[in-house]
This record gives sequence, structure tokens and C-alpha cells, in this order.
Amino acid sequence: SLISLLRVPFGLGGARPGAELGPESLMDAGLIRQLAHLELPVLDDGVVDILSSDALDQPRNPQLKHLEAVIQLNAKLRDAVSDRVKKALFPLIIGGDHSIAIGTIAGLTKHYRKLGVIWFDAHGDLNTHETTPSGNIHGMSLAVSLNQGHPRLTGLRKDSFSINPRHVVIIGARQLDQGERAFIRQSGITCFTMHEIDRYGIAAIMEKAIAIVSAGTDGVHLSFDIDSVDPYEAPGTGTAVRGGVTYREAHYALEALHEANILTSAEVVEVNPLLDRNKQTVKLANELICSLLGKRIL
Ligand code: ARG
Ligand code: MN
Ligand code: MN
Ligand code: MN
Repeated sequence: SLISLLRVPFGLGGARPGAELGPESLMDAGLIRQLAHLELPVLDDGVVDILSSDALDQPRNPQLKHLEAVIQLNAKLRDAVSDRVKKALFPLIIGGDHSIAIGTIAGLTKHYRKLGVIWFDAHGDLNTHETTPSGNIHGMSLAVSLNQGHPRLTGLRKDSFSINPRHVVIIGARQLDQGERAFIRQSGITCFTMHEIDRYGIAAIMEKAIAIVSAGTDGVHLSFDIDSVDPYEAPGTGTAVRGGVTYREAHYALEALHEANILTSAEVVEVNPLLDRNKQTVKLANELICSLLGKRIL
């Protein structure tokens, strides 16, 4: 189906400035041209932004930094994504920090009653305001999407269908906080850490992940945090953790998802051009999007 490209220049869910420049940097590096090259039908479908961040920043809650801005942005994004699904488009969201997954997934689950989610990330993003070590809401977005966390955040999902944790797979995790480990154990979500990728190989992990998110679901969303990739390949991100997936593993994973033909939406987040080296993370993000959407070597 027709791809609706939504740009979300928002960075207040993370600690370091620059993620809000992600969409612009991907566009400047030729994303639209590269997609056109693949002869993909892409609608350059606009920008989802907040009106002003300063006014929204009071009072500051150290457990929920920039809460008002995050809520305003995600309410808008939820409605934009919902509108695109209603129009039978394939939402492709480029961020932005990972807090935007709250709005993306809230919008998707207005329509999908049983959404499967593949969450590529060095982290779990399963904290709440009670377990967060940082107060940064980008570390809470998967928890909120599973209806856990502060009511102001889970309230964004009040008209959306719940996600069954058994339909959620994290891939690439290597830095989990204590509360997140407990969450994973109790919730029934699947977490393939770097240990499992090393043991079984990325091909087997993708096979397992695809089976889990596609059995008994009516849609599958990919939420791809660029920090899942090793900082050697992807230095331009705010919370880099060494020991990540390689360039080839990342491409293979997204090629496998394209082949499986199960995705109904996707987002790429946490590209921070201010922390990048020679635009290599920006270029990688664009290449990965192309792999996901069908680019083949042969
Ligand atoms: N676990 C840490 C926290 O909660 C880091 C989260 C990083 N999240 C991200 N989307 N990059 O603060
Ligand atoms: Mn800040
Ligand atoms: Mn993340
Ligand atoms: Mn991350």
C-alpha cells in the first residue's frame, strides 16, 4: 500500500539535544530520492510538531521531564497516524526521540485490535516514572504502550485497543534497568538480547520474532531505535551502548521483515545528527529504511 511518510522533529523525550533534527537530516541526505529510486509509492505527508516547547515546560517534574510537551506531541501524532491508517496508508514515521512511539502506537491501536510490535533497541524503554533512573520519557514508551506508567501518559491510549505483551518482541537489548528486567519477567513479552543474537544468529532470531508477532495479530509495527546498532556504525544517537548489532545484521533483519511481508507500519527513531560522524548514522538510517521497504542487492 501507499506509504505515508510522517516527520516528527521532536527531541524532548531524551536528554541530549539533536534528535529533533533527525527528520531534516534524513531528508537532506536524500531519503525521498532513494525511495523514489526503489519505485515505491511514497507520500511526503508532512510534519508533526508541537507549537512551542518553552511554554509547555513548567512545572518540571524530575521523574517525567518535559511531560507537557511529550503529551501534546503524542496526542497530535496519535491522531495523524490514526488518520493515515483510516486512509489505508502505511505510516512510516521518522523521529525524533523514542518517546514518539507512544503516539504512533496509540494511533495504530485505534484500528488494530491485536497489534504485534517488534522493538529494536539497545534498551527496553520499559521504565515508568517510578522506576526511571533519568526521568527521560523516551525510556518509558514501550511501557506506556502496554498501559503501564503515569496516567497522563497512558491516558493518550484511552480510546485505543490494548496490546497483548505476548505479541511484543524486543531485539538487541543490552542495557536494561532493574525495573525493566522485572517488567520483562512479569509481562510475558519476549526479549532477544545481544546474547541470544550471538547464540542463535540474527536469521534465526528474526524467524522467531516474525512468528511471535504475526500469530494471532491483525497488524505488525516495527519500532526501530537506531541505538540498537553498534555505536561503531551508528555513533549519532543520544544513548549509545557498545556491543550492538552490526551493519550487516541490521540490514539482514530489515530485509527479512520485508520478505515476511507482515509489517503494517514502521518508525525509525533516535538519530541525532549533532552527535554523528561524517553523517554515517544518518546515511545508515536511510539505507536501513530502504532495506526495510524492499531494496535488494541483486
Ligand atoms: N533506560 C534508560 C532510561 O530510562 C535509557 C533509555 C534510552 N531510551 C531510548 N529510547 N534511547 O533513561
Ligand atoms: Mn531537556
Ligand atoms: Mn528506544
Ligand atoms: Mn535505545
